[in-house]
Amino acid sequence: MAERETWTTRVGFIFAAVGSAVGLGNIWSFPFQTGQNGGAAFLLVYLAVVFVIGFPAMLMEFVIGRRSKQNPISAFRELGFENWSFAGTLGVLGSAVTLAFYSVIGGWVLSYIVGSATGTYFGNVAGFFGTVSAGPLAVGTHALFMGLTVAIVAFGIQGGIERATKVMVPAILVLLLGLAAWGFTLEGATAGYEYYLSPDFGYLADNLTSIVPSAVGQAFFTLSLGFSVMIAYASYLGSDDSLPADGSAIVVINTLVALLAGFVVFPVLLSIGVEPGSGGVGTAFVSLAGAFAQIPGGELLGVGFFIVLLLAALSSAISLLETPVSYVVDNYDYDRKVVATVLGGTIFAAGIPTALSTATLGWYNDIVFNLLLPLVVLLFALFVGWVAFDESVDELAQGSSLGTGFTALWLWWVRLVIPAAIGLTLVLGVQDLALKAQLIESAVVLG
Ligand code: PFF
Repeated sequence: MAERETWTTRVGFIFAAVGSAVGLGNIWSFPFQTGQNGGAAFLLVYLAVVFVIGFPAMLMEFVIGRRSKQNPISAFRELGFENWSFAGTLGVLGSAVTLAFYSVIGGWVLSYIVGSATGTYFGNVAGFFGTVSAGPLAVGTHALFMGLTVAIVAFGIQGGIERATKVMVPAILVLLLGLAAWGFTLEGATAGYEYYLSPDFGYLADNLTSIVPSAVGQAFFTLSLGFSVMIAYASYLGSDDSLPADGSAIVVINTLVALLAGFVVFPVLLSIGVEPGSGGVGTAFVSLAGAFAQIPGGELLGVGFFIVLLLAALSSAISLLETPVSYVVDNYDYDRKVVATVLGGTIFAAGIPTALSTATLGWYNDIVFNLLLPLVVLLFALFVGWVAFDESVDELAQGSSLGTGFTALWLWWVRLVIPAAIGLTLVLGVQDLALKAQLIESAVVLG
């Protein structure tokens, strides 16, 4: 079997992990959630959750990956706890299911790049969304997006993922900064910033029980936790990096990108006086496209924005595909290119129903977001905190100058605080699913 690859440099790993973290979650969900949930007041809760729950949870996946130097399924066997492999398997399954519909949305983005450049949707924004989001065109763009994902993963860690994300991540940052500067010059800038950031502590206080769990879910999703992606990526690391230092760089950059996205989205929307609506993925596409259709220079602004979205979605999708690919490549003597193609093709097929119906896509999303993701993070926390804790603490200390106080605090945090936060999220997530099951159909579609 070929020797296992590693990242060329530490920066290569950070770019890849940031590429995974920065995605549709940052540019779609985050600004809209903030706008709707009390602006700056929500932001404070969200930032606290990201740093207090998300960051230590990321370190859990890092220690499993780097200690074992194995894919997320074999990692548990390598560490001597084979009966925990099911946790990694669930994570890999979560990656595959997520990629199945994430790629469909990636396909919509491809259509919107072309639609912005040609002005196709300018006269009929809702009709355009209907055409590109469900049906034959959606299946076609889903195939194209998956093809791009496969093409990168096929070239491996250094030649594929590292090389691609080293270009994509800086491009996302530069383009987004440019778009935010453009947003500043728009007529709706002040109203946009106000909508985005004016703190509504009353709203926050009244809705804290629903806001905190959704902030926890969003924090896990945006940091790419729970699908064992960070186990896979950390397994390609050498042992001399400081995991807390790398993790905090990743969390900070990811948060900055999310914040920046709001500085683009809201000036654009408020320029045409559109209240950002009720927020689901579909609504966001329709309302933003509506704004690009009316703003002077909207074609260019639209193309720029959707290119950022494409790069962000693609650099996340490759991490979702790498997770199952790493399992097969580690365990069987197959060529990586073949494995990436076969697995990408299978996941593409699993995603077809979501390319035919946005309601089905909503269900895939809800099951992953509300159930699978918190469940797997909980399993990882129990494993790291209560089963392989000696190895985990030792691994966290490798290459880090933070000392035993930090590792001890982290261990107790993983043992108690993270499971408590997830328990709450799971209970409320199940309630939410049950509620949606009652509402059925239309309300589910665009949320
Ligand atoms: N972090 C990505 C986003 O914010 O869109 C989504 C994601 C990618 C989640 C990879 C999980 C994952 F493993």
